[in-house]
Amino acid sequence: MNRLQCPDPRVVSIADLQREGTRKLGKMYGEYYNEGSMDLITLNDNSAAFDRVRLRPRVCVDVSAVDMSTECFGTQVSMPLGFSPAAFHALAHPSGEVGTSRAAAKAGINMVLSTYATASVSDVTAQGRGNAYGMQLSMVVDWDSNLHIVRNAERAGCRALVLTVDCACLGRRLNEYRNEFCLPPTLQLPNLPPGVDVHNPVAGNDPRSSYDNAFTWDKVKRLIASTSMPVYLKGILTAEDAILAANAGATGVIVSNHGGRQLDGALATFDALEGVANAVKGRIEVHLDGGIRRGSDIFKAIALGADHCWVGRVPIWGLAYDGEDGVSLGLKILRDELLITMSLCGCRTLKDIRRSHLARMQADGTWAALADFRRSELAVLRETEQVAKL
Ligand code: LAC
Repeated sequence: MNRLQCPDPRVVSIADLQREGTRKLGKMYGEYYNEGSMDLITLNDNSAAFDRVRLRPRVCVDVSAVDMSTECFGTQVSMPLGFSPAAFHALAHPSGEVGTSRAAAKAGINMVLSTYATASVSDVTAQGRGNAYGMQLSMVVDWDSNLHIVRNAERAGCRALVLTVDCACLGRRLNEYRNEFCLPPTLQLPNLPPGVDVHNPVAGNDPRSSYDNAFTWDKVKRLIASTSMPVYLKGILTAEDAILAANAGATGVIVSNHGGRQLDGALATFDALEGVANAVKGRIEVHLDGGIRRGSDIFKAIALGADHCWVGRVPIWGLAYDGEDGVSLGLKILRDELLITMSLCGCRTLKDIRRSHLARMQADGTWAALADFRRSELAVLRETEQVAKL
């Protein structure tokens, strides 16, 4: 009956992986990863948004050879999913980002390393097997410190720079206040500029580690001009900013709300995706992260216009559960679920996944087709004119 195998009866879904991984993380670090800012409205809505949309399967299609592969950062990947940057992987498991990287390499997917990684970018890229790596950067006040991270990433062979643009200041993470969040004294953050206090990397007045809250589109352009890597802007939620990102020379945008860790009450990424895709798809790449917990979530994001998806917490839960093998288990679950969703929706390749596969549930219990791509073109044009006047 073509039943796929699941190697671990205790962990057959990402929800299981979250539960089992969290158990091992302990309270301070479990809540650091699992929670977000303020009342967690956006954090929870990121996943709930996927559930507000249903699938419209097409049947009697030959799905004996489903191909989930695509291209990302100039390399072929086995599925449209990679690892978003997330800080401090060694809090979850001693193998840290090196273990995560090995699992990514084995699965043939890409990984974006956090500036606040506990392994050096060169140690992480050294695990690669033809998959590509990106480096995340949070813009800090001191320009040379930004360039330090960029140059290290270039030297280590990173194929993309992922610039976080939703972090003029850190969101209010109540769990961190309640738990008096701190890092173990032995933890190293080797990608930060030398001399930065690694145990207080995002606080205090050190311009080498303080987020630049005077960071504007001019600085984005300056950064894009200063690197050979293609630059993706992570943290875009509106059509207006997506158009400005394209105008600034970004290669792509990542529709993201920082996993619900920054502005609570901001749009769920899946809800924001349609507007962004309508505005810039075809001109620059459109990626998405936030709330993906099932293969069907990836399918829905692709149907609504995403070129690629990312998960940040899944590898953390995997690492905490069982190191590199736990990360591989999380990837196998998502891969199998995407395969089943595509097969049962009658999609042989990612290009076969369309908006017509989605239905949005209405308050009265009926469903509505999602707006046709072209119907919104006029609205986008009007928006572009408004943006030009800003
Ligand atoms: C966070 C920062 C490190 O979300 O980006 O915790």
